[in-house]
Order: sequence, then C-alpha cells, then structure tokens
Amino acid sequence: MSIIQFPKGMKWGVATASYQIEGAANKDGRGPSIWDTFAKTPGKVVNGDNGDVACDSYHRYKEDVEIMEDLGVDFYRFSVAWPRIFPDGTGEVNKEGLAYYHRLVDELLEKGIQPMCTLYHWDLPQVLQDKGGWDNRETIEAFEKYAELLFREFDGKIKHWITINEPWCVSFLSNFIGAHAPGLKDFQLGMNVAHHLLVAHGKAVIKFRKLGIEGEIGYAPNVEWNEPYSDNQKDIDACTRASAWFLDWFFDPVFKGSYPEFLVNWFKEKTGAALKIEDGDMEIINQPVDFVGINYYTGSVSRYAEDEGLFDLEKVDAGYLKTDIGWNIYPEGFYHILKKISDNYGDIPIYITENGSCYNDEPENGRVRDTGRIEYLKKHLVSLQRSLESGVNIKGYLTWSLLDNFEWAEGYTMRFGIVHVDYRTLERTKKDSYYWYKQTIANNFFEI
Ligand code: BGC
Repeated sequence: MSIIQFPKGMKWGVATASYQIEGAANKDGRGPSIWDTFAKTPGKVVNGDNGDVACDSYHRYKEDVEIMEDLGVDFYRFSVAWPRIFPDGTGEVNKEGLAYYHRLVDELLEKGIQPMCTLYHWDLPQVLQDKGGWDNRETIEAFEKYAELLFREFDGKIKHWITINEPWCVSFLSNFIGAHAPGLKDFQLGMNVAHHLLVAHGKAVIKFRKLGIEGEIGYAPNVEWNEPYSDNQKDIDACTRASAWFLDWFFDPVFKGSYPEFLVNWFKEKTGAALKIEDGDMEIINQPVDFVGINYYTGSVSRYAEDEGLFDLEKVDAGYLKTDIGWNIYPEGFYHILKKISDNYGDIPIYITENGSCYNDEPENGRVRDTGRIEYLKKHLVSLQRSLESGVNIKGYLTWSLLDNFEWAEGYTMRFGIVHVDYRTLERTKKDSYYWYKQTIANNFFEI
C-alpha cells in the first residue's frame, strides 16, 4: 500500500456550470441562450433533452451548498448565466438575475467556501448569436461590459475569476464540428470565434486590473494529449499538431503574444482558413494572468494517417479502459500536459478546474457504488501528484462535477456527478465517490 500525499495548502473543490444545473430557464427575467435554442432544435441533443429544469439548482442552491459544506471543499466553481444578467446580451441589467448570484455567493461565503466564478460557460444570449455571435466583434464589447458589471458587483466577495471556459469547445467544437450550440460547421468561423474569445478574455483581464478588483483572474482551456504510436517522425508530428490545437493555439497568444506558426501554416494549407487579426489584438490577448485553469478528461495513442481528418492522424485503439461516455482513461496524458505547460509557459500557477468521469451508476437501496469513478479519480490524482513532484505549480484540484447534470449534446444520459440526481424527483444522493473524495479532502492524502 502507498500513500499519495498532497502539499499543505492544496485547495480542493467541485465545479458546475449554469445551463447544466440551474434550470429555471424562464424565471425572473432570464433571456434565452444559444443552448435553449440548440436543445430545442430536433436532433441536436439526445432524447431532445434541455436545461429548462436541469438540477433546479436555481431553487435548490441552499441544499447544494450544504452538500459542499459537508464535503469540505475550499472552492465551488460555478458559472454565471449571461442571459440572466443581460437578457438582451447588453444594455439593461436584470436585477433579479444578479440577486440570484448574490444569494448563492453569500451562502457559499457563510459556509466558508470560496466562490470561483466562470463568466462564460457557453450560454451566450441568443440575441447576440442572432447578430453573428462570437464571429461578430460586437460580442467582444458586450462581454467586456458583462464582465465589468460582475467585477464591480461582486468585488470583495468573489476573488477567483475565470473568463472563458474551454475556448476550443466554444470555437471549434461548436462552430466547425457543429456538435455544440450554435451547431455550425465552418473552419474559418471556428478560427474567428477562437480569436475573438481570446480578445474578449484579454479585454476582461485589462478591465479587471484597471478597476483594481481584489483577487485573481485566469481562463480555463480544455486540453487533450495525443501520445505518438511510435518514434516515427510522422507519428510524432501528427500528434504534436493535434495536441497543439488544444494547447498551443490557446496558450501561445496569451503567454507569448503570437499564434503557433506551424499550426497557422498547417490550417492554411489544409483548409484555406487564415487568421483575421486586427491591430492591437495580440497585445490585448497577451495580458499576464494570475493562473490558468486546466480541464482534462482524456487522451489517446495516435498515429499518422495520410489525409485522415484535419491533422493526418488517426487514433489507435490501444486497449485503454473507457468511461461510460466512451472516453479513454488516460492519466499519463494528464501528467504530460501539465509538465508541458510548465516547461513551455513557465511557472504559472495552475488550478485543475475540471477533471472527472462519466459513470451511469444508479442508486441501489439508497447507495450509488460508482467504483469506476473512484478509480478514475485515484489514477488522475496520482498523475497530479507526480506533476507536483516534478515541480508543476498546481494550487488546487476541482472535480467535475458536484452533480449529475445536463451533459450538453448527451442530454441527461451521461452522468459526471459525485452526487446522483434523480431527474424526476430532483433528489440528490451522495455517491461512493463523494465519500471517497470527502475523506481525501479531509486527509489531504489517500491510500492506494
Ligand atoms: C465542460 C463541461 C462538461 C464536461 C464533460 C467539459 O468539456 O466544461 O461543461 O460537462 O467537460 O463533458
């Protein structure tokens, strides 16, 4: 048996996002978001599910905070629904929307839990999408105003801010692959959106500093690791390209003030798409951040395959165990990514803002025996510990997710929570993984 011990001062938490848990979609002046529209478009979400009710955390937030108090977390990462604050995207503020987040934040602070607030976790006001969404630079201005309002409103209460969650998903997954709202399929569009998101992020950081807001600000890219199948240079190059789509594309501009040239050229050659950068954009993006949030779930062994997909790459079935959503369990990739970030971008403080797994275990006699999730957590925390030992500056770990919730295009069919939600009764049941995590937090170590 060995003990995996974490450093003193290690922070622990759980994460959620507004559209996935809040429900109350038409309550208290909330405007429609692109996810309301997308979910209600036939064929986009499994079973035609939508977030109208979700976990109803909008009404049950006290119960959810109480669960977190029992769990013993330092941080709760949640997101604000932009259309609750500005139902029209910009302009008139909806006071009732703000009041909800005050209630939530006050409750957290009272229980000694630090709020970590994500400004954008995908629920763009539909009115903005109607004018082009993130392809339209007016959305950047609207985001800046929205960010400013929240900074001013919650200054002194919220001290950890995340601008954009998973810019890769918002841009390429949603506008090139078309799997998420708004469901478009155009590579140039994906590239424009990615760039505009980074500019919006930079503008929010500048505003945060200018206003002298107390606390720290960062962003939360999702990363995936492609391990080369062999030492063949072609395999290595194809994997480098594919991993860089998540990593370098969203890190180089922020930390180095430029895009990775090799990928810019690759995209030009493969798709004809080119960056559309305006004067001053790169300086805006290249703002020092206080931390970076990392969302990691999976990785693959991959190899070169001529004309296969965007990168001339195919995944190899290397026999890894998979979670119920079909993603490889690949904790080594977690270590490689963290190591690469610290090698390439310096000693930047890192929070793991999401890491978790999908297992669809149901309660039996009031107990949810989600051993798969516990194993997943253990393996990834071993990799995390390995990264810490090799000098990566990791400040905290937040698992995804507190609750089973609306899993985007998968609707309610895929469960990521450490707390089970019965979507008919909205009853919460703590899973075995919850109790395991609770003990790990209390001890700051676990045994394997
Ligand atoms: C997102 C979450 C999502 C999770 C599992 C991340 O991509 O930020 O909203 O539920 O992964 O798919």
